[in-house]
Amino acid sequence: MCGIVGYVGGQEAREVLIDGLKRLEYRGYDSAGLALGSGKDLLIIKEVGKVEDLERMLQKVPAGYHQGIGHTRWATHGGVSQANAHPHKDGKGQFALVHNGIIENFSELREELERKGVVFLSETDTEAIVHLVATSFSRTGDILETLVYLQKRLRGTFALALMQQGLPDRIYTIRRGSPLVLGSGNGEAFCASDIPAFLPYTRRIQYPEEGDIAEISPGGIRIWDEKGRPVERSVVTVDWDVSMTEKSGFSHYMLKEIHEQGTVLRRSLKGRVVDGKTMISGELGWNVEMVSKWKKVHIVACGSSYYSALVAERLLEKWTDLEIKVDIASEYRYRHVACDPTTLAVFVSQSGETADTLAALRKARAAGAHCLAITNVRGSTLAREVHSVLLLKAGPEIGVAATKSFTGQLAALFLVALQLGSMRGILAPHEEERLVNELIRIPYKVELLLEKDGEIKEIARKYAQNKNMLFIGRGMSFPVAQEGALKLKEVSYIHAEALAAGEMKHGPIALLEPGVPVLAVIPKDSLYEKTLSNIQEIKARNASLIAVCTEGDRFVPEQAGSVIETPWTDEEFTPFLSVIPLQLLSFHIALILGREIDQPRNLAKSVTVE
Ligand code: M6R
Repeated sequence: MCGIVGYVGGQEAREVLIDGLKRLEYRGYDSAGLALGSGKDLLIIKEVGKVEDLERMLQKVPAGYHQGIGHTRWATHGGVSQANAHPHKDGKGQFALVHNGIIENFSELREELERKGVVFLSETDTEAIVHLVATSFSRTGDILETLVYLQKRLRGTFALALMQQGLPDRIYTIRRGSPLVLGSGNGEAFCASDIPAFLPYTRRIQYPEEGDIAEISPGGIRIWDEKGRPVERSVVTVDWDVSMTEKSGFSHYMLKEIHEQGTVLRRSLKGRVVDGKTMISGELGWNVEMVSKWKKVHIVACGSSYYSALVAERLLEKWTDLEIKVDIASEYRYRHVACDPTTLAVFVSQSGETADTLAALRKARAAGAHCLAITNVRGSTLAREVHSVLLLKAGPEIGVAATKSFTGQLAALFLVALQLGSMRGILAPHEEERLVNELIRIPYKVELLLEKDGEIKEIARKYAQNKNMLFIGRGMSFPVAQEGALKLKEVSYIHAEALAAGEMKHGPIALLEPGVPVLAVIPKDSLYEKTLSNIQEIKARNASLIAVCTEGDRFVPEQAGSVIETPWTDEEFTPFLSVIPLQLLSFHIALILGREIDQPRNLAKSVTVE
């Protein structure tokens, strides 16, 4: 979705802004632009295309601009065009504004402004905001009053950054429903949709609350609530460093992030399991009395986060006596679900900003559920609106395809399931100890598996030209197959479908023909023999088969054209391992096909609109 960055300080603003926009490219975009202020003039440069194109256009601009706002646009209202790119300005060119989000009442606002003689130059909802600012400011002459008024008039979600001609050391922001973070350095200040945009310059962050208005200037940051009352928001120093946002010698972020998974898992478990026991109740603020009141668990998420939730569903069924329901956020938010104070509602989201997941959370919270966020972003909207948070320790994930956040979510959900099982007295201490002891061995096994990168690259060559692929698995391996199919679709654009292996003969088996390979996820688990029969049915129809199985398996390799073996682990842990070859296979197929792996077409890293 759109990315915003703003800067005021002693540096050349365009350099900081271009750097910031490049760091936000992962969000997905089709055009880019920036506004620069020097006190004398307010310059807007924007174009369809890449941030590098914008950078080239800026070479003609002289130095001396120390204030600016930048934007990468992912089209929603109005096509991809120079006129629709941000920043937008008012008729007199007094204000420039960038926006991420959607203004739901923009048609009504546009009509009202047009009746007053305002001429629109674009088809965007954003342009209505900047005209509204200008007309209100011409009445009041007071920017804070204008921004309070603006909040009353706008419906929808927005993160805005605004600058005014002749005011070269101030940028104003508003955040409601869309992500925005503020950063302060020495004699300089920043705003952005996401922390990596200004991570090279500062790690001192403030997270505005819903409706907050902020003024960022070299002297510091001032914040008011939506009614214009001054408020304090704490300054947090984030533990991310800039190297985490770089490729560090890898060709792509996706590949780097796949290879980070051992480290991510180690970090995620550190201090959270001690001497064979799960120790996250303190972090979550849970006590036995509270946990014993829950009768149900709802887990809600989108995309890969949903697939990690499906793995957790199977664990919770085994280790707790709770009734478990897992749903896609865009469905859950409109269903008549029985959610009440006896419900623990868990929201899984890497970004913590996914619009559907946030809407589902608000619904569950209003119904009285205890809400837990599993997210990678401290200070994200999700993290701020729940009762408890369990942070992933994945570090920034830049590739659009979720990889390390998926395994990080598995680890976090494992801990939640173990903690619930032991606090409710269902999971016996010796069983918990066995599980924890295997859990801490998983990072090492993941790293062993990552050494098979070269082998998987060779397999990718055999299958890259197929137009379709089926993924099958049972039990814990079904969500893994689903995640594998999603990875292949999003980075290679090959059509892929995941099926519960037992469902094949209820219809999908009709799809089998040469050129439709089947990838089977078949670890040595309690359903192994069942899946093996399904594989035989597939082989009987001459389909080519790729198998992800456990080391030492004697039967699967006899059936499959290509085999990737994973280290042995207990059934519950197989998703951590089986998913790794699927990530690597998708990456290598996409590479062979020359796809834009880190920023696949039409996709955005975090989906902040419904
Ligand atoms: O930030 P979230 O975890 O809420 O994002 C959810 C999905 O949009 C995300 O997992 C998406 O499916 C990824 N592109 C998958 O690789």
